[in-house]
Amino acid sequence: MDTHPDSRTVAVFGAGYIGLVTGACLAELGHRVVVRDIVPAKVEALTRGEVPFHEPGLGELILRNAGRLTFTLDPVTALAGAEVAYVCVDTPPGPAGDADLSRVWSVVKELRTAPDLKAVVVKSTVPVGTGDRIREALDRAGLAHVGYASNPEFTAEGKAVGDFLAPDRIVVGTFEADTADLVAALHQGVDGPVVRMDVRSAELTKLAANAMLATRISFANEISGLCEATGADVEQVMGAVGMDPRIGPGFLRAGLGWGGSCFPKDSIALKQLASDTGLHLQLLGAVIEVNNLQPRRALQRLKDELGGFAGRRVALLGMAFKAGTDDMRQAPGTVVTSRLLAEGAKVTCWDPLARVGAAETEVWSAATRYDTVLETVAEADAAIVLTEWPQLLDVAWEAAAGQMRSAVLFDGRNLLDPARMREAGFTYLSVGRA
Ligand code: UDX
Ligand code: UDX
Repeated sequence: MDTHPDSRTVAVFGAGYIGLVTGACLAELGHRVVVRDIVPAKVEALTRGEVPFHEPGLGELILRNAGRLTFTLDPVTALAGAEVAYVCVDTPPGPAGDADLSRVWSVVKELRTAPDLKAVVVKSTVPVGTGDRIREALDRAGLAHVGYASNPEFTAEGKAVGDFLAPDRIVVGTFEADTADLVAALHQGVDGPVVRMDVRSAELTKLAANAMLATRISFANEISGLCEATGADVEQVMGAVGMDPRIGPGFLRAGLGWGGSCFPKDSIALKQLASDTGLHLQLLGAVIEVNNLQPRRALQRLKDELGGFAGRRVALLGMAFKAGTDDMRQAPGTVVTSRLLAEGAKVTCWDPLARVGAAETEVWSAATRYDTVLETVAEADAAIVLTEWPQLLDVAWEAAAGQMRSAVLFDGRNLLDPARMREAGFTYLSVGRA
């Protein structure tokens, strides 16, 4: 889109997954956007046209809109002329499990030199009540005329651009109607309904949506255990369960459990938020527990098959928390790796994209990474599919089985066809399938 009927100047704080997608998509809609980040290397790379992580379509969007999308380290430059400031910094779990809002507050403090500012839009996931506190802080800073909006994202990595430009809904929580009007106008050209509500409801909608999705997966995973105990097949069961339009098919895939940058931290944040008000969310507690158990249950089954892990070589296929991303945050495979190492196994691994780097992925540095699946499984006593990478469908599995010390395959994502894998020579285990 070349021009937007109501083109604005927008500052986006945080050039992470969410901020960069937001900035690039707003530029695509025709707005002038400056994205600000505190990490010099990131800003330099972006200025050269390099995207610091894998997100399909994002690089093209940034290039195509280079004329109205710039990057800076300086908050004053970002805010010069800005009418809207988006807050997209990360909100990781703090020591008590609640979201750590320190980065959000640093941005709020930086907003003081913003003469043209009309609205602050928070996309970062925050506890309910944060908007009220930011509203008070803005009032105290002489910014009572600046509107406040909670505009949570429902972005899934790997399809973030589509999730922004054609979302299921755009949730806009504000204190005043004119701020909601402004945010709705910014989204003109986006193919999705704007749902207006109060700020607290918008904040809770984000956490509740993620908890609901996590609940569905944990439900499927709990049923998978029962399938193993009774000889039923979880793919058939959940496939048919999801055909009921009252239930729907999405997010019912059994596997090694949910990971990523959102579900783990948001489920704990929601639980803590409730605890802080004296409420015990029993269902959510169980959802988290099922998820914690799922990779450990899988490992126990594999351990029984191998007769122990000590001295065994285990090949891990897939490291990213799901296919289509390079993100390793809270990947279920991290638990698998640390358990295997703790039990004395040697670990090799393969992934087409995964970026190991954050402190929480440190455990992977003890694993030897190879470029191909065949090298990874050579001489292994077992292989585990951790991520549902489509590349795994095209592996020469007969050759892979032939290279392993014992051809045992645990398919933690129910990706492969059991009959075909047995034909290829494997002792094949999977989640909840007979
Ligand atoms: C986002 C949200 O903000 C988070 O609350 C939500 O739940 C998930 O998505 P994400 O984009 O994944 O987080 O975070 P990340 O990729 O870590 O990016 C955050 C960026 O903000 C980083 O580039 C960091 O350098 C930057 N940052 C941090 C600032 O620019 N200013 C700060 O004060 C702190
Ligand atoms: C999620 C939400 O989908 C998104 O709306 C929110 O804004 C951020 O969190 P994301 O973390 O990118 O997005 O990935 P998603 O595709 O939702 O998968 C999350 C985890 O659940 C992955 O580990 C995935 O493997 C797992 N999953 C998903 C299952 O185990 N079974 C399923 O049926 C679906």
